Parts: sequence; structure tokens; C-alpha cells
Amino acid sequence: MIDIHSHILPCVDDGASSWVIAVEMVVAAAKDGIRHIVATPHSNAQFRYDRSAFADRLLELRKRVNVPIELSLGCDFNFSLDNVQAALDDWRQFCIGSGPYLLVEFSDYGIPPNADTTLRRLIRCGVRPIITHPERNPFLRSKPDMLYSMVGMGCLVQVTANSITGFWGKEARRTCWGLLARGLVTAVATDAHDLTRRPPIMSAARDAIHSKFGKDIAEALCSTIPNAIVEGKPIPDIPSLRTLREAGG
Ligand SMILES: [Fe+2]
Repeated sequence: MIDIHSHILPCVDDGASSWVIAVEMVVAAAKDGIRHIVATPHSNAQFRYDRSAFADRLLELRKRVNVPIELSLGCDFNFSLDNVQAALDDWRQFCIGSGPYLLVEFSDYGIPPNADTTLRRLIRCGVRPIITHPERNPFLRSKPDMLYSMVGMGCLVQVTANSITGFWGKEARRTCWGLLARGLVTAVATDAHDLTRRPPIMSAARDAIHSKFGKDIAEALCSTIPNAIVEGKPIPDIPSLRTLREAGG
């Protein structure tokens, strides 16, 4: 499996709080069957994003871990005015690896009325936005058409592994399964912050998706599509997902 959203870089945000914990998180992920983690520190009003400092830190983490796992860099990009302006100036500093995929997180309290226009501007620049955990955002949950419209313009959707299994509550879980049933989920990721409360574990979610929708879809959302994302390649067409989308309207 490939995890495109994880706060494993130590002491840069509210994720791993030490090098020891960061290393243990990587080991736990490898044990769970994850073979590539994208480190995605926050870029928001609380945490400043510094790509070159984070790249150095990632190199250091790679030296300290002794398990077969790949690590790359991305960003948990808050959809704020400042961030959007910085991305319009130089979006590559926030994207996953050297590809066009950008994790976009909306505020829980509201989405700017011109969000559509801004997303379209980013897309025109070459960015492929991935809307992160819409199932955990009460505002997006209350306005599903807003998410459908973003998907319609080319945005992708990432849900959190432990939303699928119920950690974030009934509403988040129900929304996840609804999005999965409509074929609207592009990738599952952990959004791991620590070892216990929000751990780097994907297998439980993958197995739950496997039970409900079959192996093809579980593999597509946890491995095949995330692999294309970390490699910066186009999203592969998965016939079983397409069938769900077409049936969902
Ligand atoms: Fe995150």
C-alpha cells in the first residue's frame, strides 16, 4: 500500500513529536504493509511550510529507518488566501514529489464562495488538487453538491483510513461509504499523526473496502492509484471504479 498523507516528519507540526516516534511510525507503517509514505507537513496559519528544510529532515529520517519503505515529500495544504497565492506563484513547492498532485484541506467552518474559481485557476496552472478528508469536514458534508462540483472540474478525493472504520464518528463513516459507493474516492490515506490515536495503519480500511466492494477497488484506492500519484503519472482508469461512478450518476 502507499500512504499519500502522513505527518511523520518530526517536530515540524502536530504530527510526530520526536525522532523516536517518527521512526516508530515508519516501522509500524511498514509492518502494516505500507511501502511508500508521503510526508505531508501542514501549511497553515499555525505551521509554516519550508520545503527545503523538510527535504533535509526527510533525508535524515531515511537514514534513521531500517525498514524497506520509500519516503517522499508533499504538503497538507490549507486552502487559505496566503497559501493559494504562494501556490499560484510556485505550486511545485507544495505538491507530492515532483508531480502535479496537491493535497487541499478546507476549513471546517466554511469554504470561500470563490473556491471553485480558485481551484480552476490552480488546475489551469497544472495542479491536480486532491481534496483531503471531505468526510471529516462538517461544511462539505452539509453541501455534497460542492464536492461533486469540485470532482466535476477535475479534483480528486482522499478519505482517511480510520474514517472508514469509524474513528471519526458515524457521520464521517457514513459519508465515506457513500462516496465509496458512488466511485468518488480516488485514494485512501492515513493522515497519521502519532502511533496510537491516529496511527499509520491502512490495512483495516483496505480490508473493509475489500469486503464490501472487492479486491480490485481496495487495491486501486490503497495501492494502484496512490502509486500513480507518487510517481506523478496520470490517474489510471479502473473499470470497476468507473462502473460505480456511472451507476452513481
Ligand atoms: Fe493531515
